[in-house]
Amino acid sequence: MRDRLVIAIDGPAAAGKGTLARRLAEALGLAYLDTGGLYRAVGLSLLREGGSPDDPQAAEAAAKRLDPALLNDPELRGEATGNAASKVAAIPAVRAALLDFQRNFASNPPEGAKGAVLDGRDIGTVVCPDADAKLFVTASLEARAKRRVKELREKGIDIIEETVLQEMRDRDIRDSQRAVAPLVPAKDALVLDTTELDADAAFRAALRFIETRN
Ligand code: DC
Repeated sequence: MRDRLVIAIDGPAAAGKGTLARRLAEALGLAYLDTGGLYRAVGLSLLREGGSPDDPQAAEAAAKRLDPALLNDPELRGEATGNAASKVAAIPAVRAALLDFQRNFASNPPEGAKGAVLDGRDIGTVVCPDADAKLFVTASLEARAKRRVKELREKGIDIIEETVLQEMRDRDIRDSQRAVAPLVPAKDALVLDTTELDADAAFRAALRFIETRN
């Protein structure tokens, strides 16, 4: 394997990217960046200020003065934040404002790391097109919505499955059909469909692929 390894993981919400990215980072001694957290932080700061995630100027300003403390905020993972994130993510100036931070993390990972794993929607296509290995993790809408409902119920949040499914469908459409950096697999990505694949099997398949690429 090369000295510094960059792994790009993309895919829709609740497909299992985060779990896979964390496991790969730990197994390979790499730093991990959840890039969705950056878009979520922009969405959350707008919701808190009473601004609209559809307002390009307010969203750009929020991206430019991103407060890193928001990345650890308990509301970061909430559904309202996820929806606001998906809206601000369609604004080109927001994406441009977050690009340098992500590229810098990939090329200069924190001390001690042998490289980086980034997960998001456009890592293999836009942020790190030269990544050593690219994975596209997906699953059926129904399977992803069920996982999200289970996760939320485990946290004590009572939620109607149909609502989660509908919001996830809207988010998929917004993320895949936007004009800039839409969610699409990179041409050289390994597509992992986790509808029927458990986390261990996905991890093993990803490791095998990374070994063949390096
Ligand atoms: O992965 P997530 O659910 O935390 O991401 C939240 C939103 O952020 C997602 O709906 C689209 C956007 N996003 C993006 O456009 N590009 C990325 N690299 C990561 C996330």
